Amino acid sequence: MIRLLYISTARERHSPAILEDILRMSRRNNTAANVTGLLIAGGNRFLQVLEGPEQSVQSTYDRICQDVRHRAPVVLKREPIKERAFGSWSMGFQAGGPTLPPTAGISDQLAALMEPIEDPTLRAYFEGFVRQHAA
Ligand SMILES: Cc1cc2nc3c(=O)[nH]c(=O)nc-3n(C[C@H](O)[C@H](O)[C@H](O)COP(=O)(O)O)c2cc1C
Repeated sequence: MIRLLYISTARERHSPAILEDILRMSRRNNTAANVTGLLIAGGNRFLQVLEGPEQSVQSTYDRICQDVRHRAPVVLKREPIKERAFGSWSMGFQAGGPTLPPTAGISDQLAALMEPIEDPTLRAYFEGFVRQHAA
């Protein structure tokens, strides 16, 4: 199994209707493909973790990249895993914080997105990632 984390930029302001549509499709397809994960939408950014069998995650990500609702996806991490960290959701959702100016570094961008996250396990995952990335 692998876990893939990417960040992208929304083409339009996040709206409840667009997010609902994305989550509905994601939950249906990911359940069928044995993919789990989490989507964070904040400011004009999406941050998403996908995990599951390598082929399933890759084909899901390839399809997501074609989606006109966002642009410029950047893979932040792609790693082999033995266990899922987001196994309880076919696609969980978390509202993220505001977008910083593009001049802000990726670690600050991620910190701003994660700011509203209260769940300690989720925070720990992303903070670990930011630390690793900054190192
Ligand atoms: C930010 C973002 C995240 C998405 N995440 C997923 C996902 O986890 N799984 C998925 O199947 N589709 C996801 N989608 C939707 C896909 O891009 C695509 O529209 C959908 O998979 C097509 O499904 P269909 O072929 O069954 O109509 C996402 C789209 C966006 C913009």
